Amino acid sequence: MAGKIAVVGSNMVDLITYVNRMPGPGETLEAPDFSLGCGGKGANQAVAAARLGSDVMMVTRVGDDIFADNTIRNFEEVGIDARHVVRVPDTSSGVAPIFVEKSGENSILIVKGANNALTPAEVDKAAEDLKQCSLIVMQLEVPLETIYHVIAFGAEHGIPTLLNPAPAQPDLDVSRITGVTYLVPNESELELLTGMKVSDAPSAEAAARSLMAKGIKTVIVTLGSKGALLVTEDDCKRIEPVAVQPMDTTGAGDAFIGSFAHYFTKESDLDLALKMAARYAADSITRPGTQKSYASIEAFEAFCSKLDG
Ligand code: RIB
Repeated sequence: MAGKIAVVGSNMVDLITYVNRMPGPGETLEAPDFSLGCGGKGANQAVAAARLGSDVMMVTRVGDDIFADNTIRNFEEVGIDARHVVRVPDTSSGVAPIFVEKSGENSILIVKGANNALTPAEVDKAAEDLKQCSLIVMQLEVPLETIYHVIAFGAEHGIPTLLNPAPAQPDLDVSRITGVTYLVPNESELELLTGMKVSDAPSAEAAARSLMAKGIKTVIVTLGSKGALLVTEDDCKRIEPVAVQPMDTTGAGDAFIGSFAHYFTKESDLDLALKMAARYAADSITRPGTQKSYASIEAFEAFCSKLDG
């Protein structure tokens, strides 16, 4: 049995509008479709890992509105341990209005709401359960002090940590995340973290190495349709992209991280975990929605069989 994964992070309600084009200032425009779904980078990553069969615990905060009930029910339905999903009085749950264009590209606004209440002291309430986990996964939709605290907690107790620095945060202090085991930015997040232009694999490697010079051990750069790059002290490996026809790219980065967490904790094989993560993320963009687009283990194995011919 693989070790338990903890996600210390966000949850949102995704309000997804499919548009023919974005409206201009002052313009009212009809859009062809709308979908309401569970989202938030933390919850998405937790759900992806759970759908693949991992034992997942979620540490997050919800508001005291109807969205909260739905979010908790969703975690329970997927089999996620939701004992540390706590309601915050007089606060809204996190929400994310999302616009998806015909190309599958998306634009996202986030209102963090109760996610802002996930402070270090609140995380400490889950400390005994966190100590039982094999990997702690984080993103940046909760307070930065919480991220620094969890990375220090992981280092102190010998628990590997993974930080997905999304959405990009100009205030993130790199000197306080050097204890993280895996840093997994996309190209624009890596640019903001380093101040270096990232446009291809060589520039991504150079930027990743500048972070490693500051103490970060392993950087995995997600490159969208160009695949991903694993940069370690003595190696740099390309993870090949999987070609699919994109319908909706929302949550693809989260699908990558959640599935990476699943395969890495299950197999302890970094190369295999990255290959499977690239596949799982590619499969997710062939369907609409965020969590709704994440395959079950059975469906994903069928997708992989087709790829392997
Ligand atoms: O990464 C996609 C996610 O970003 C969406 O589910 C939305 O809620 C925002 O958190």
